[in-house]
Amino acid sequence: MDSTAYKSGVTDAFTRAAGSYDRGGVGFFTPMGRELVRLAAPRPGERVLDVGCGRGAALFPAAEAVGPGGRAVGIDIAATMIEAAREEVRRIGAGNVELLVMDAERPHFPNASFDLVLGGYSILFLPEAPAALARYPRIMAPGGRLAFTCPLFVPGSFPFLPPVFTPMFPPSVFAALPPDWQPDELRRRYNGWLSDVAELEAVLEAAGFTGVEVRDQTVPMTAESPSAWVEWSHTQGMRLLWDRLPVPVAGELRRSLVAGLTELAAEDGSLVIDTPVRFVTAEIIS
Ligand SMILES: C[S@@+](CC[C@H](N)C(=O)[O-])C[C@H]1O[C@@H](n2cnc3c(N)ncnc32)[C@H](O)[C@@H]1O
Repeated sequence: MDSTAYKSGVTDAFTRAAGSYDRGGVGFFTPMGRELVRLAAPRPGERVLDVGCGRGAALFPAAEAVGPGGRAVGIDIAATMIEAAREEVRRIGAGNVELLVMDAERPHFPNASFDLVLGGYSILFLPEAPAALARYPRIMAPGGRLAFTCPLFVPGSFPFLPPVFTPMFPPSVFAALPPDWQPDELRRRYNGWLSDVAELEAVLEAAGFTGVEVRDQTVPMTAESPSAWVEWSHTQGMRLLWDRLPVPVAGELRRSLVAGLTELAAEDGSLVIDTPVRFVTAEIIS
């Protein structure tokens, strides 16, 4: 798949997912965004850019941290995500937030516009992420920092999901998917270099960053019930997978996920799944 077709597939999936993205009975992006902002530690008065901001899981905590004297700009390629985030701005009256539909691979801002660039689970979706990252130092002020999250890809497991999900994927799922949707190929496409710390450091250094720190932590993914989790999985990146499965195979996967998650659930049916997440921070070479 070429990068233009791939990018329009991603855009389409998130455009359709935005209405229910990060809402409903599952908590994951919101606590991960908060943790990213805690680690990045924006200071009052700073200017923050959140690339692939979605509905603002990291953007709103960052806006709160920089306060009325600072500015938090969120960009996303999916116009519906930006619209949903704008509604939140109106709801909470966040006067220091600006939202723009923009490709994170080609950010159009004047030189030295930002002190901090955030990317919550978004860099992995950029088909040419190393080249995109190399465009960020220009728009960052001297001493500017970068902080982003990505999934921890575990060999042999379905990318994006904690290893506990691996046995819940029936072989029919992989049999139904074309070669470019097999787990190893997905890992490669979703920026496999993020999985290898040495490669990750090399890519960031080539892009103009230094002081790279990689922290692997777990974020608790909470769900009201197994079926709430399955519904939620249609509202994020996994939608790309659901959309490609023939109806009977999708039904089989759904049943298998509900059965597997039921075994992990507490007595009231709720779930807490520790999800490995990679938190990366760096600063620009001044
Ligand atoms: C998994 S979501 C994360 C959203 C948000 N950062 C969060 O933590 O909830 C990935 C987001 O990246 C956006 N995205 C994907 N490719 C993009 C691109 N080329 N430019 C800007 N945004 C992009 C998607 O539209 C989606 O909103």
